[in-house]
Amino acid sequence: MRQWNWKIGFASLTVLGLVFLSAQRVGAAESTEPVPQDWSFDGPFGKFDRAALQRGYQVYKEVCSACHSMNLLSFRNLGGGAGFAAGDEESSGPGFSAEQIKALAASFTVKDGPNDQGEFFDRPGRASDRFVAPFANEQAARSANNGALPPDLSVIVKAREGGADYIYGLLTGYKTPPADVILGAGMNYNIAFAGQQIAMAQPLNDNGVTFADGTKASVEQQAHDVVQFLTWAAEPNLETRHRMGISVLIYLAVFTGLLYALKRRIWKRVR
Ligand code: HEC
Repeated sequence: MRQWNWKIGFASLTVLGLVFLSAQRVGAAESTEPVPQDWSFDGPFGKFDRAALQRGYQVYKEVCSACHSMNLLSFRNLGGGAGFAAGDEESSGPGFSAEQIKALAASFTVKDGPNDQGEFFDRPGRASDRFVAPFANEQAARSANNGALPPDLSVIVKAREGGADYIYGLLTGYKTPPADVILGAGMNYNIAFAGQQIAMAQPLNDNGVTFADGTKASVEQQAHDVVQFLTWAAEPNLETRHRMGISVLIYLAVFTGLLYALKRRIWKRVR
């Protein structure tokens, strides 16, 4: 009998361990070996870093948004997670206040209409508007970018193998090409990109932005922050998912204990 108990206990522990490990590995897919970075949102207790998310939004706005849209985001999402408004308790977003978001949205011009005269008109953005795209359509985007299309960044972290680590590697992967590499016209050498030639010129430069919180804006810092922002955009419910995972594990542990106690009681009488 004793041996059997041990086996059950061992099996439950193994299952728990596996569940725990797989929870940790979610989102960290295999790829052409991007260097794993230290992200605050990794692991079962991982959370987004609000300050990094705010800096990341700044980098997106001041640098990336010149070429890349983020069509799935609305300004009001910048308070909490997508679908959450500013100040929501469950929110896991950058945490801008309602006033900040209003001002932020108003700094963009949005096409609206038609009005009573049947005309389209420009107006300042509102919190409920979607992010404003840099180009009117794909053709305009391509013609401004040497024929290449800058992809929408709303869910790019989920769309690329290697996720956050890959995109960090891409943004910091611009190098002088080796002597034997001949770059195509308008192409740039990047060690993270498949084939090492990418149409996007190096977007980040040291001190290319000035962070309001005084953080030094190295290329690595900007890349780190903007990737954190893009990860949040792609998975705004990550924190809720982590909390749920922990609750499930606690539940399973308690349940295993109960089952074991029950089993002992029943088998006591048989013995
Ligand atoms: C001057 C325009 C421009 C700017 C600014 C720019 N990009 Fe790009 N980006 C492009 C173009 C064009 C492509 C397509 C490249 C290709 O397919 O060769 C691209 C591709 C990408 C990709 C996809 C790479 C892949 O694996 O397919 C990511 C991710 C990306 N950009 C992120 C960013 C981020 C983050 C920023 C801001 C820090 C940024 N870009 C700024 C033009 C730009």
